Formats: sequence, structure tokens, C-alpha cells
Amino acid sequence: MSALATVQAAPGLDTYLEELEDRLAIAVAARPGLVAEIGTEALASGGKRLRPLLVFLTADPEAGSPVAAGVAIELVHMASLVHDDLIDGAELRRGRASVWSAYGAGAARAGGVYLFARAFAELAETGDGGAVAILADAALALVRGEGLERNQRHRPETSVEEYLNRCTLKTAKLFEAACLLSSRRPELGEFGLALGIAFQIVDDCLDCAGQTVETGKIAGTDLREGIPTLPLLLAAREDALVRQALAGGSLEGALLRVAASGAIEEARQVARNYAERALACLDGLEARDELEAIAEAVVDRTA
Ligand code: FPP
Ligand code: MG
Repeated sequence: MSALATVQAAPGLDTYLEELEDRLAIAVAARPGLVAEIGTEALASGGKRLRPLLVFLTADPEAGSPVAAGVAIELVHMASLVHDDLIDGAELRRGRASVWSAYGAGAARAGGVYLFARAFAELAETGDGGAVAILADAALALVRGEGLERNQRHRPETSVEEYLNRCTLKTAKLFEAACLLSSRRPELGEFGLALGIAFQIVDDCLDCAGQTVETGKIAGTDLREGIPTLPLLLAAREDALVRQALAGGSLEGALLRVAASGAIEEARQVARNYAERALACLDGLEARDELEAIAEAVVDRTA
């Protein structure tokens, strides 16, 4: 069975995903107006729903429905992307105009805050204070991660450790939260954390070499913005032209030099190592096959 088929065959998944989409649509439409329109538009653009999937696959079967947690985590993710595209000056998301480029910067700011607020409203309704605390912790990490990214901008001397710390905060903590919200099992949280780092490294590789028709994004944004990602850092160690481009110099030919340097393959290997580390957290756990399949899909993805 392919990795995807293994996940799709998980009992109850179809019903969960249908309910998730319905509840997401209701959640973003809760306060009609421009921000609801932005939310509806962001929802319609799709997305892998990877974090809600992790909520479902790690959920304690004895606990209540994981749908509210899935909705809340996807809304925080959507909110962060709306703001991230504004910060990164990214014009495309999922093959469509990003929110700021379609509606303007002010509307994107307000839309992101609205989605963020709706996320916590959905989770608070469950009365599960522990879940709210887990998501609040992850949301704070997102902001700290984004702050680190700002500090590391145009710094080709950023260490791999500093980069990994940024990945942990801006991406992996939300994966960790997805795996903890309905399970409260630390080993599943650790799985999510390692998987999230693998996910971000692959994302950063796709930014160097991904195809817009697959990723729905324009490649080269990180280099243009001077964001020291793992493939760029590794290439910059060997190549003065890439180092200068990352520091804010000319971009001419730099992305081609990154591709030719072998740094993207090297970074992908680091991502595979993190996926292995994630899998090691699952020893003896149920739903292992599906989570293993997700880890495989994360490191092999092209979109
Ligand atoms: C995508 O990174 C961005 C994130 C994972 C986090 C962004 C976080 C914020 C903007 C702060 C928090 C804001 C809210 C509203 C919670 P990327 O640019 O590497 O990925 P990309 O290629 O998909 O754009
Ligand atoms: Mg971005």
C-alpha cells in the first residue's frame, strides 16, 4: 500500500475530514465582512490539512471528538501563513494571489488576526483549558520563530544550530501541538517536534528548487529575502557568490549555484534524519503505520 493509501484507509478519517471542512467554513464565516471573506478565500485555496490529520491520527480514542482541535490548529496555521506572506513579500500561495497581494497589507493583517482569534474561540468552546494552553504555547513559539527569522536575515554566518532552533519555533512547535492536543502523550509530542523540523527543512529545499506548478509558490523567495535556510547556509559555506547573495548582494546566478552545489540533497538528508528520529518516538505505539506514512510523505514531498 502506498504511504498515502495507508493514511486514507485509517478508520473514521473520511468522516473526520468532512466534519473538519464544514466546521472550518463555519468558523471563518462567523463574523461576516472582509475578514470572513479573506478566511473563506484562504480556506478555498486548499492545503494539505496536515496538522489536523496529525491531530486525528494521534487522538486518544477514549477522549472526545478531535474535530475542534483540528479546526483550531488549522486556523492558527492559516493565520500564520497570511501574515508570513505579507512579511516575506510572497505574491503566490497555493497557486493563487496571496492575501496581501489580493486585498492589501492592512486587510492581510486584520485577516490573520481574525483567523487567529477564531482558532482560540473554537478551542475555548470545548472547555478544555489544557488544549488552549498547548495551542497558546505553540502560537507564542511561532511568533518567537518569526522574530528569530528577522534577526537572522542577511546573516550567512548563522549556525545550523540557530537555524534548527528557528525551525523548531516557527514550525515544529505547531506540529508538536497537533500531536499533543488530543493525546497528551509526550512521546507523540516528540514525534511531532522532529517531524516538524523535517517538514521545514524540506520546505526550505523546495524554496530553492521546487516547481511553482507543484508548490503553488515562487521559488527563490528565501534567497531574495536573505533568509538563511539550511540549503542556502550549506551552499554559502562553499561558495562566496551565494554567501554574498544571502548577505544582501547581487542574486544573479546564485540560485543556480545553490542547485549545483549539492547543498539541497545534503539538506534533504538532514530532513530524512529528523524523520527517522520522529519514527523512533513511535516504537510500540498504535497508529504507527499511518504516522510512519505521514513521515515518509513529508520528506518525499514535492509540494
Ligand atoms: C512559513 O515559513 C511561516 C511560518 C511557519 C510561521 C509564520 C509565523 C508568523 C508570521 C508569526 C505568527 C503569526 C500568527 C498570526 C500566529 P516559510 O516562509 O519558510 O514558508 P513558506 O515557504 O510556506 O512561506
Ligand atoms: Mg514564507
